[in-house]
Amino acid sequence: MSKKIASARIQTDSSELLKELNNSLPFDRVLYREDIEGSKAHAYMLMKQGIISPEDYEKIDMGLERVLDEIESGTFSLDGDDEDIHMAVERRLTEIIGDAGKRLHTARSRNDQVALDFRLYVLRHGDTIANLILDLIESFITVAEKHTDTLLPGMTHLQHAQPINFGYHMMAYASMFKRDYERFVDSKERNNLSPLGCAALAGTPHPVDRRLTASLLGFKAPTLNCLDSVSDRDFALEMLFNIATLMMHISRLSEELILWSTSEFGFIRLSDKHATGSSIMPQKKNPDIPELLRGKTGRAYGNLLSLLTVMKGLPLAYNKDTQEDKEGVFDSVRTAELSLRVLKEMIDEMQVNEEAMERACNRGHLSATDLADYLVKNAGLPFRDAYHIVGNVVNYAEELGKDISELTLQELKSVDSRIDDGACGVLDNRKSMNARQSEGGTAAKRTEEQIETLKRWLQVQKAEGKRQVSSR
Ligand code: ARG
Repeated sequence: MSKKIASARIQTDSSELLKELNNSLPFDRVLYREDIEGSKAHAYMLMKQGIISPEDYEKIDMGLERVLDEIESGTFSLDGDDEDIHMAVERRLTEIIGDAGKRLHTARSRNDQVALDFRLYVLRHGDTIANLILDLIESFITVAEKHTDTLLPGMTHLQHAQPINFGYHMMAYASMFKRDYERFVDSKERNNLSPLGCAALAGTPHPVDRRLTASLLGFKAPTLNCLDSVSDRDFALEMLFNIATLMMHISRLSEELILWSTSEFGFIRLSDKHATGSSIMPQKKNPDIPELLRGKTGRAYGNLLSLLTVMKGLPLAYNKDTQEDKEGVFDSVRTAELSLRVLKEMIDEMQVNEEAMERACNRGHLSATDLADYLVKNAGLPFRDAYHIVGNVVNYAEELGKDISELTLQELKSVDSRIDDGACGVLDNRKSMNARQSEGGTAAKRTEEQIETLKRWLQVQKAEGKRQVSSR
């Protein structure tokens, strides 16, 4: 059946093996909505430009609506023998409305058709992902607001470094995900152009109006050059890169959630909803969900590398290699959307163990830098000398089995006579955290500023985000 509408040159039926290799319907059927919308816009333009009659247009439009209904209700199942979603829809349309259906493909090729459908899909899901990121940022802000005074050991090299607050840590993630969001928005701005009307590669002699179809489909404008438009897959690559980076951030956070929920850390408890048991060890509660999110990052990277490799070395314009662009994108999109939803739920429902976080701050001499800074300010010592004195203090504290914040003034002074009475005050972890008042620093006041800034930003984006989705 598909052979008849697809080919005038090929006389014999395709071999079964060829079909298995060649047919994209098993996966590109998810594009049915975009394909039908694109066809409706194209048919309307053909009628407006006098390329098809109003009667044929009415039939095509009504027929396409029916195909859509049939697909959505399951009466037209997309698992037939058709080569791809474009051929399947056109075949069914022609079965329903007869000869008028054969006029739909005037001034169009599957090359611009697939470029359109896929671009619509990518832009729409880019909007969906962007909005899911905003929801996640909102969750970080909610947690951060509650914990600007909750002490947490800030780490470098996964070793205790300086005291920070947990809200500040959450705001670090909020900042990463803000950049991820902006990448999706920037990509949309660049790629929001319609390839429809480019036909096979060179444009068409028919008097098409590409601006009309572009605006009907919610694009900013038509693309500039048809040869480029039917072969370009940068928009899909950007999507894959944006998702890979997003997943990298999700994976880093997942790693921390996993660490924090171990008995060694005990900083958080994941809701039972997001943990599973072991089949043999009755006591276990495993963080499978963050582990899966961390693991799924692998496929997001793989999908990016795979399409970069497919595109490398392709001569202009369309080549069938390009059909390999879709499955990875569908997979990355599904992975990103699901991961964001799950992660938000996990952040919303995790229990924060403030005592454990604060207790952990009493190990690792977190306020050592504060004593060095104090000696610089109060004893006028060069930082490097102060650094060595504090090194000796830390060694002494270790000998006593204490944290530096637990040393008495007497003990401090016994290490070096240049340490004076005020030194004890700066060793307190909360004071140390609040002393870091430089812009972007951890002091509770500065963290609150960051929260306020991001809240205002979020409000603006939320209003715009809603607009983006509805305009398409
Ligand atoms: N299924 C094809 C794809 O995804 C549609 C485009 C076919 N064009 C062609 N000239 N064979 O790329």
